[in-house]
Amino acid sequence: MDSIPTEKQKSLAPDIALNAVLVQSQDLPAETPTVAGYDWESGTDYNKILESYARSGFQATNFGKCVLEINKMLKCRSVPLSEETSDAYEEDIFIKKKTNCTIFLGYTSNMISSGLRDTIRFLVKNKLVDCIVTTAGGVEEDFIKCLAPTYVGDFNLNGKVLRTRGINRIGNLLVPNDNYCLFEEWVTPLLNEMLDEQLNEGVIWTPSKIIARLGEKINNESSVCYWAWRNNIPIFSPALTDGSLGDMMYFHSYKRPGFVIDILGDLRRLNTMAVKANNTGVIILGGGVIKHHINNANLMRNGADYAVYVNTASEFDGSDSGARPDEAVSWGKIRPNATPVKLYADATLVFPLLVAQTFAKHHFINKKNV
Ligand SMILES: NC(=O)c1ccc[n+]([C@@H]2O[C@H](COP(=O)([O-])OP(=O)(O)OC[C@H]3O[C@@H](n4cnc5c(N)ncnc54)[C@H](O)[C@@H]3O)[C@@H](O)[C@H]2O)c1
Repeated sequence: MDSIPTEKQKSLAPDIALNAVLVQSQDLPAETPTVAGYDWESGTDYNKILESYARSGFQATNFGKCVLEINKMLKCRSVPLSEETSDAYEEDIFIKKKTNCTIFLGYTSNMISSGLRDTIRFLVKNKLVDCIVTTAGGVEEDFIKCLAPTYVGDFNLNGKVLRTRGINRIGNLLVPNDNYCLFEEWVTPLLNEMLDEQLNEGVIWTPSKIIARLGEKINNESSVCYWAWRNNIPIFSPALTDGSLGDMMYFHSYKRPGFVIDILGDLRRLNTMAVKANNTGVIILGGGVIKHHINNANLMRNGADYAVYVNTASEFDGSDSGARPDEAVSWGKIRPNATPVKLYADATLVFPLLVAQTFAKHHFINKKNV
């Protein structure tokens, strides 16, 4: 560590070095927070521990910024819709504007494989978000968990051994192959039903309409998709065939060919939600399709007003997953005057804590006041 030269050293040291080491500081703005951590003399007060993050530095500070950003979304959302700002003529109840700040929630498939499913269900069950985008696994794993459990395993379990035992690994989680057989038994008659409606009644199925139908049919309160169907919250999944559901559709297509899925119909629904929204907030857990799909919809309205990213990806490789919010500002997907935050973290660690400090507080306070 550099030490400050003593008076004697100063008198002997070369000026160039002295000037380099002792550059005079300019004052920081008066409102600049000082660094501080949690005072453990207060005991284990989890709320105070989380509040202390904002001044702790690094990703803890970004966590504090995410709390502020989500609370801004909730404040904006609590402004009632007026006759002028509501959406009286929209007939599609799933995309009809419901609040003053339309919140788009995106999450990768593995979030539903993990216990985050229960946090996401809390948000959907209590109508705290308006629109969801996820990938195929984020849909099917929700249904499969209603049929049989996912187990906690270990990242180091041997793939070859697991394969011989018919066990699939997702990180340190385990899903027996039998779960997918149960899923096939459950979903195949529903694919038949939807194909019949397409052929006999001319129904055009989009991924979000399929997910709503499956959500209705699972009729299980532990399911995110069930609550999304009940609360008219659309779940978009443009690559719905890239998972077990796709496998089931592939096998089904040999028994009964002809089932058509219209992805453009869903793009219209999703973009319409963004275009009509009074304000928008985006909360994106992970990267890939879910991140871009939500941001791109917000381009249609010249950018989101509020944004929170939680992911582990870096930008050095030019990936969309790793792109910081500022890149989305350059594309018009987040507004230039917004205060977006990227939290670099595993969402399973931080998202329940973020929800605890924002949506949950907001929800339980409102419930008390009713
Ligand atoms: N359970 C599964 O993961 C599963 C199951 C079936 C199908 N699939 C398919 O695999 C394909 C790729 O999956 P995907 O697009 O959902 O995402 P992904 O798993 O490829 O993740 C995309 C990026 O999100 C970030 N991310 C992922 N998990 C994170 C976490 N816990 N915390 C923070 N950041 C995280 C990482 O930067 C990652 O590179 C999809 O088509 C999906 O349907 C996945």
